[in-house]
Amino acid sequence: MKPAWKVLITARGAQAAGDQAQQLLRDAGCEVIFPTKFGPLMGDALVSVLGGMDAVLASLDGYSASVLSSPAASRLKLVARWGVGYDSVDVPAATRNGIVVTYTPGLLDDAVADYTFALLLSLARRVHEVYGTMQRGEWKNAWGDDVGGRTLGIIGFGRIGKAVARRAAGFNMRILAHTAHPDVANQSVEFVSLEKLLAESDFVSLHAALTPATRGMIGEAQLRQMKRTAYLINTGRGALLDEAALVHALKENWIAGAALDVFTAEPLPADSALRSAPNLLLSPHQSSYARGTGERVSLAAAQSIVDLMHGKKPQNVLNPEVFASAQLRASLKP
Ligand code: DGY
Repeated sequence: MKPAWKVLITARGAQAAGDQAQQLLRDAGCEVIFPTKFGPLMGDALVSVLGGMDAVLASLDGYSASVLSSPAASRLKLVARWGVGYDSVDVPAATRNGIVVTYTPGLLDDAVADYTFALLLSLARRVHEVYGTMQRGEWKNAWGDDVGGRTLGIIGFGRIGKAVARRAAGFNMRILAHTAHPDVANQSVEFVSLEKLLAESDFVSLHAALTPATRGMIGEAQLRQMKRTAYLINTGRGALLDEAALVHALKENWIAGAALDVFTAEPLPADSALRSAPNLLLSPHQSSYARGTGERVSLAAAQSIVDLMHGKKPQNVLNPEVFASAQLRASLKP
């Protein structure tokens, strides 16, 4: 009988909101290991913590082909993504190396949609600005913009985009959506071209998955198509947006403001030009940090590790073809 697995947890969420998940892993006999620094870990920093690990409960670490095929990853059987986005994992390379990749779809939709709305409301009604003036001892109102009855453009209409639309309906907003897969049965949403969405929306919210086709989809040309009074919100992925073009747009008032929770480089470098751009509300990839959600996501990711360790196919596998891999079968042998 092989000893139980060594499980590395690079997802900060699975430490702070992961009591049940950690218990599940320990009850199954796993050794749970935390790195000295939580993810996202990239390149050599990731390779340096993978040695001897059977599974990782993973942050948005960069599982590139070279990381996955490195000698340090030779025992690795599973990357269990804490979350729904898997753009940071080279899934075909994982398959070639006999490594299963799982994720946790459906568990974060409400948390991310709630947070998207928190940013939208704060941007429009300037909550963050008046909080700042109150803290400085002042008493000063800030004029904002109406939200109810205005137009929201949702780019990407998967589970999270739909959860945002449900909230917008409660605010009596007109809802436009742009997606490769329009849900024509949905009567409360108008599916439109990207150009129409950008030209008519008062708020534009990004929820597309990051793929080669969507990378940089909002650049200078698209920002210039938005209304000067409109706001942009990104809780999807930083690389959907050309960040330098956004800084330019905000400095020159092409749009009224923006809120970003996700960035091309995370953590956002201290000297990033985004940090000092005007009318820009920033947060540190905060949208999934809601306790109940965190516990559920951690538990689902941990369950996939325990399942595979026990020779069972986990739920939500991104590369089911990996189960035909001789390398995986050999490494799972009791
Ligand atoms: C996700 O689910 O991918 C979120 O961005 C958190 O990692």
